[in-house]
Amino acid sequence: MSSPEIIAVELAKAYRLLNHGPTVLVSAQHGNDKDVMAAAWACALELTPAKVTVVLDKSTKTRQLVEQSGYFALQVPCYAQIDMVHQLGTISKFDQPNKLEDCKTELFYQDELNVPLVSGSIAWLVCKVIPEPHNQQTHDLFIGSVIAAWADSRVFRDGHWYFENAAKELRSLHYIAGGTFYLIGEEVKAKL
Ligand SMILES: Cc1cc2nc3c(=O)[nH]c(=O)nc-3n(C[C@H](O)[C@H](O)[C@H](O)COP(=O)(O)O)c2cc1C
Repeated sequence: MSSPEIIAVELAKAYRLLNHGPTVLVSAQHGNDKDVMAAAWACALELTPAKVTVVLDKSTKTRQLVEQSGYFALQVPCYAQIDMVHQLGTISKFDQPNKLEDCKTELFYQDELNVPLVSGSIAWLVCKVIPEPHNQQTHDLFIGSVIAAWADSRVFRDGHWYFENAAKELRSLHYIAGGTFYLIGEEVKAKL
């Protein structure tokens, strides 16, 4: 379900949604087949035109849907979603066809784009795959051109994150290993 807090993010500022290195959720759809997986290895690649990278292992069903459709979304999940994020990263839809229902993952769509987005996240980037068969096969590395981006205005507005004044539940997750994450911490400023 879409929420009233969702605001569009200009594509030139989309890299800031990933600059702090959050664990993301990768979603994709081909026909009626949809899937979502967790990914720690996602990164901004270029400012304008906005591009991102994500590593999608060959064992994942989500990767198959990305290859079939040519599109994926990266979303930044938050502490309120920690158990779902870990489940989406440990269960494969290849093994558990009802994965999304079992993980209680609700999806919504924005702007007529046929790329499913995960409700309750704090930022979303819809990406079109820039085909690089060598990188995809050899390094499992996918490059996407960001075609639309949104954020939850309670934590991101005017091109900046405002985690310091937000509820703990809205803080981004940063994966370590074995089900352990850090939450984004306090803001500190370097001297100009
Ligand atoms: C926090 C977390 C981060 C992960 N990061 C990645 C990643 O960057 N790339 C990857 O291929 N798999 C990653 N995984 C593993 C996939 O999310 C996992 O294989 C998932 O079950 C695939 O689901 P699917 O087959 O339904 O697509 C991660 C798992 C967790 C828990």
